Amino acid sequence: MNIICDAGQGAFRLDTPCTSYVMALADGKWLGHVYYGPRLTAEGLDWAHDYWGIDQRPYTPDQFPREEAAFFDRFPMEYPMANTGDFQECCLAVRRGAGLSDCMPEFASCEILPGKPKLDGLPATFGEEADCNTLKITLSDRPTGVVVELYYTAFTRLDVITRSVRIINGGGGTLWLDRALSACLHLPDTTGSMLTLSGSWARECGAQVREIGPGTQGIASCRGISSHQGQPFIAAVSPDVNQERGEVYAMHFVYSGNFLARIEQDQFDRRRMVMGIHPESFSWKLEPGESFQTPEVVMTYSAGGLGKMTRTFHDLYRGHLLRRPYGKRPVLLNNREATYFDFDEARLLEIAGKAAELGMELFVLDDGWFENRPTDSGGLGDWTVDRQKLPHGLAGLAERLQALGLQFGLWMEPEMVSMDSRLYREHPDWAIQTGERRPMLCRDQLVLDLSRPEVEEYVWQRIAGTLHSAPISYLKWDMNRPLTNLGSAEQAHRYVLALYRLQQRIVDQFPDLLLENCCSGGGRFDPGMLYYSPQIWCSDDTDAVERLSIQQGTAMLYPLSCIGAHVSGCPNHIAGRMTPFHTRGIVAMAGTFGYELDGDRSSPTGIFKESWYGFCVCKPMTRTQKDSRPSRMV
Ligand code: GLA
Repeated sequence: MNIICDAGQGAFRLDTPCTSYVMALADGKWLGHVYYGPRLTAEGLDWAHDYWGIDQRPYTPDQFPREEAAFFDRFPMEYPMANTGDFQECCLAVRRGAGLSDCMPEFASCEILPGKPKLDGLPATFGEEADCNTLKITLSDRPTGVVVELYYTAFTRLDVITRSVRIINGGGGTLWLDRALSACLHLPDTTGSMLTLSGSWARECGAQVREIGPGTQGIASCRGISSHQGQPFIAAVSPDVNQERGEVYAMHFVYSGNFLARIEQDQFDRRRMVMGIHPESFSWKLEPGESFQTPEVVMTYSAGGLGKMTRTFHDLYRGHLLRRPYGKRPVLLNNREATYFDFDEARLLEIAGKAAELGMELFVLDDGWFENRPTDSGGLGDWTVDRQKLPHGLAGLAERLQALGLQFGLWMEPEMVSMDSRLYREHPDWAIQTGERRPMLCRDQLVLDLSRPEVEEYVWQRIAGTLHSAPISYLKWDMNRPLTNLGSAEQAHRYVLALYRLQQRIVDQFPDLLLENCCSGGGRFDPGMLYYSPQIWCSDDTDAVERLSIQQGTAMLYPLSCIGAHVSGCPNHIAGRMTPFHTRGIVAMAGTFGYELDGDRSSPTGIFKESWYGFCVCKPMTRTQKDSRPSRMV
């Protein structure tokens, strides 16, 4: 058993192959953090209370009530509460009506659960009894009736501890949670720097290392998606960290909406790292007996630099987050950069014919296949096939592709509605809005309010109807704008929960479908989405040179098999750069590998065709072909 749970002694310990995590009680009731780092060699836990001097006179409130506040100002509370003398970033803020609350849950009980319990309505890592065990510590606060269940799962073969929290209203009155984060970690002095992955659209996942200074620093999203601007990841690292050496304390959030990841350095230069749903515009109402489940945080410690951290995340996600044994993925050709909206069935079949000849396996029809979609300004939400472009419908196109030996894949953006659509004309109120002003447009579209059950059901019917209408073996689920004009403090999280339900229904009802998530590229590339789709489109920037840093940052956390990467045409549509086909091929091979171009159009000189053969996996370039390449292609 890799967990010790000793309520009598008031100490708790989790072990993974190379790490240990220890907590202890002060005054028999305040749960404090003691240690996280290299695996402890000493057995037992009788030393735990002395580690930070947390249970010694005159520091604890029961022994020295005169200076109670000093205790709470310095005690490394495992799950810190707002408005209780802990003045750093806290995890829990409870409100009763218009009034605040000084909720201070004390230790109540603990137990060890074999394996890992599922999280209600949320994606999470999974494991059987042989893979992991879970420590559940229950805290409770008598005046408010708040019960807090802290879950820690320690993996037996990986240096991973996952954390989540369930907050229950065990009292008689209504409560509001204004902050309910998933994890807090007190860091050792050795971690002077912070690593985050930040960027922008077409510039995702740039690694940034900064020195940690007094006050708070970190990364966050309030866009309703995990965002291009910040990966839901944070690590405290030793200043000398590199791929092989140095310490890393990392947290990664299994969630696809607003998040906060922060490190705070206090008056004594001690550092605390927290992660959870962003508290801005968040409040959750809990009636008596109701509970709130926070999303999961994956935590790892590495004494072997960033490389060890990366390998741990990859192994965890491959073995305990990706839900099906996906083997070799089909080599696909996506028509986006080849045609944009300018296509019809004949044109698609022309491109597909060449793709088939070259041994590709899947043809993906991107945006523009439905009515009222000559540009990106209309049609979203209706999902009726444009018979002018596709006279034989999706089924007819699929049949023709099958005759060429290709599978058929399709693009949809199910969460959206265009103002120029039948759906919007019939249900303008289904778009997210406050009701006080017209909601803000972005890419000429609005977001459907998935937090309303009738909207969620409509969206499901459109997805299921489309998938049933033709032999579709792959779906690219896109999402191309942030959430704005929200009318309630629960809406953003309820939206994410509905999104997860929809993706779950796809996985359950279309088990053979290959789902690829996308959000204008990597705007929702997070472990939450990965739970449903084994691959995610990494960036709209397909320029091979710019892709190097984008994919390198993404691969710091995610296995290469998850990273959507295609060979596209030149000059690159975003960067305008000319890049040898060889380079584009190699970069795309460091991901799922596919193509996003039109062979003939990109090849007025015929050069392209020759080099195309060089990187078609089924027809490797011969030595003679290689040698005959013009020098600028090398
Ligand atoms: C987003 C996606 C692209 C493409 C377009 C279609 O930008 O990231 O890959 O599918 O939408 O409109």
